Amino acid sequence: MTKDTPYVPMDWPIEKKLKMLPATPAPPQFKSIRGADTVRLPRHEMTRDTFFETLHARRTHREFARGKLSLENISKLLQTTWGVQGYLQTNVFGLLPHKTSPSGGARHPGEVYLMALRVDGLERGMYHYQSKDNRLARLPAKVSPRMASVYCADQLYFSGAAALFIMTAVFARTMWKYGRARAYRVVLLDAGHLCQTFCLTATRLGLAPFSTAALRDSLIENDLGLDGITESVLYVAGVGLVAARSNSWRARMTRQC
Ligand SMILES: Cc1cc2nc3c(=O)[nH]c(=O)nc-3n(C[C@H](O)[C@H](O)[C@H](O)COP(=O)(O)O)c2cc1C
Repeated sequence: MTKDTPYVPMDWPIEKKLKMLPATPAPPQFKSIRGADTVRLPRHEMTRDTFFETLHARRTHREFARGKLSLENISKLLQTTWGVQGYLQTNVFGLLPHKTSPSGGARHPGEVYLMALRVDGLERGMYHYQSKDNRLARLPAKVSPRMASVYCADQLYFSGAAALFIMTAVFARTMWKYGRARAYRVVLLDAGHLCQTFCLTATRLGLAPFSTAALRDSLIENDLGLDGITESVLYVAGVGLVAARSNSWRARMTRQC
């Protein structure tokens, strides 16, 4: 039921977009428990450490500089986010892959497909990332900057990206162990972990990451040869080169909202 949902076209004027919102006011953004005693926490200077610097520097980018990303950076993004870092020896389930993100039961249901658009040293195309041996397998799907934005529900800004990382899940890996509806929640939580790892890695590499849940699910699944049931698209992350005026979209949004 969450697939192929209709999206508000980007070129609608803001007044028309606002009319799509409920007539009731937005819910409060923060919760405070009335009557509870509160304790002021010490403030920390967290910017002198590269980890915290990276966390604070992460932004969703929607404008990108022209030019190509290096294959080395694409490889770092794939290997750091989706690559197998080692194996965990378990008593019951044998060897289970270990990655930089946690995964419920170490089942790692996530797969990733690289839509390479502007990558120096890699032919434009669609690839499946083989996390086990850190290789890319070429798929027949045709790719183009326009298709990148079509896949992302016509969000035009993503046609400027150097690459999309289409995140899917093979549900059986998690459902085999956790055979209840809860498994679905676990699979979605896993995807969130992976995406944050991706965004932070890209930020640390000085690149411009983004993520989007607004997707043409069936179109993507069809192009990737997925049935959309046993393996289904969940989320798309992407990356480009940082634009000189990378904050202009943010400034516009701040004014609009
Ligand atoms: C699940 C999820 C879906 C998102 N989908 C979109 C999207 O479709 N288009 C988009 O431009 N940004 C999308 N974003 C990015 C958010 O708009 C962004 O995180 C938010 O505005 C806060 O800005 P920041 O990421 O720079 O902190 C998404 C983020 C998340 C976590």
